[in-house]
Amino acid sequence: MTDISVSHDLTDAPSNAAANAAPAIPDATATNGWRDRFGQALMGSLTTPQHMLVRGEGCYVWNSEGTRYLDFLAGIAVNSLGHAHPALVEAVSRQIATLAHVSNYFATPAQLELAERLCRITGAGAEGRVYFANSGAEAIEAAVKLARLNRGDGSRTRIIALKNSFHGRTMGSLSLTGKPALREPFEPLLGGVEHIDTTIEALEAVMDQTVSALVLEAIKGEAGVIDLPEGYLKRARELTTEHGALLIVDEIQTGIGRTGKWFSYQHQGVIPDAVAIAKGLAGGVPIGALVTFGAASRLFQAGQHGSTFGGNPLATAAANAVLAEIESAGLIENAERRGEQLREIIRSIDSELVIDIRGEGLMIGVGLAHPVAAAVCDTALALGLIINAPNDVSLRIVPPLIIGDTEIELFRDLFTQALKAHS
Ligand SMILES: Cc1ncc(COP(=O)(O)O)c(C=O)c1O
Repeated sequence: MTDISVSHDLTDAPSNAAANAAPAIPDATATNGWRDRFGQALMGSLTTPQHMLVRGEGCYVWNSEGTRYLDFLAGIAVNSLGHAHPALVEAVSRQIATLAHVSNYFATPAQLELAERLCRITGAGAEGRVYFANSGAEAIEAAVKLARLNRGDGSRTRIIALKNSFHGRTMGSLSLTGKPALREPFEPLLGGVEHIDTTIEALEAVMDQTVSALVLEAIKGEAGVIDLPEGYLKRARELTTEHGALLIVDEIQTGIGRTGKWFSYQHQGVIPDAVAIAKGLAGGVPIGALVTFGAASRLFQAGQHGSTFGGNPLATAAANAVLAEIESAGLIENAERRGEQLREIIRSIDSELVIDIRGEGLMIGVGLAHPVAAAVCDTALALGLIINAPNDVSLRIVPPLIIGDTEIELFRDLFTQALKAHS
């Protein structure tokens, strides 16, 4: 396979052809004193970031001082095509100049095309149905409602989720999130949700006819890129089928080709009842979706859920462009191949700090022997590499799916230096 990454100008001059019409660099009044202004104007729920970013191109972003960074975080697994990809820029520009938004009282070609595409790539096929939302948390909200509709004779009231999982921060999705520190300030949350250990034994112990749904991440991203135990998803499918519960897979971080398949449940040959999608779907344009399979597609009735912006022409046109580009440029195969290369590089670094390499494809978690993950990320940033630390002992590497040889080699150099500085 040839190096398929889009070509990058390595100078700091704005060179992106698609952005030629409107220079993306803000003038100094937009960036002056930004740290103080951030703390002054943004809600205290956010900590003030270290940098202000002003433009991106391919796998690189530039801060307000003109420094370039190799972006191996991609907006936390969002920028599937990197930054300012011509296919995405063109699709969004064309759509906003044609029809940006209509209400749910009307259909649009982009919405219909995306729904049909999602039914195809998820494997839901003709029995599939799609609900469009604006974020991952909203896709999960729809999943919570789906679970509530799976009542059976009325006794199915329990929803099972996993400890240390992350499903979002709205009240419904937070109710599924298995991180006490995130939940506790906002309790009481939704009733009937139970968090179990991620073992097959714990699952077997809890499943019965009162469970309406089991909701899980195929790989726990925010927990540090933690894989499910061997055979877990298959057993989850067997048990949910046996007891009439829905198997709902949260592929918000793992989906859209990142793991080397469209969705990571496809590595296991498992067919869920619903899959939640967001992040990489529209490559940076906000969108979320819940796709149902088979009988689960008949649970929602007209009028039971909706959202003003959900499935609007702008977001769905962006997603169509992203999915088409992933297919035509072979980016799923690229994710698998580049993922293997990156793992090989990380393995080859002579550092006792690395004790574990997790995840699949271009969703990579690096387990550390000491709690220095934040310091490694700070050093990497100072060197010109963006990665992040979901916790003290884990690094997360989730680059755009377009990375090629140049980015791999630059990563090797910068990541090795960052690790060695803390070994
Ligand atoms: C697995 C998973 N589910 C849900 C969410 C929530 O998505 P959003 O931040 O778009 O609401 C995230 C976000 O990180 C996620 O990683």
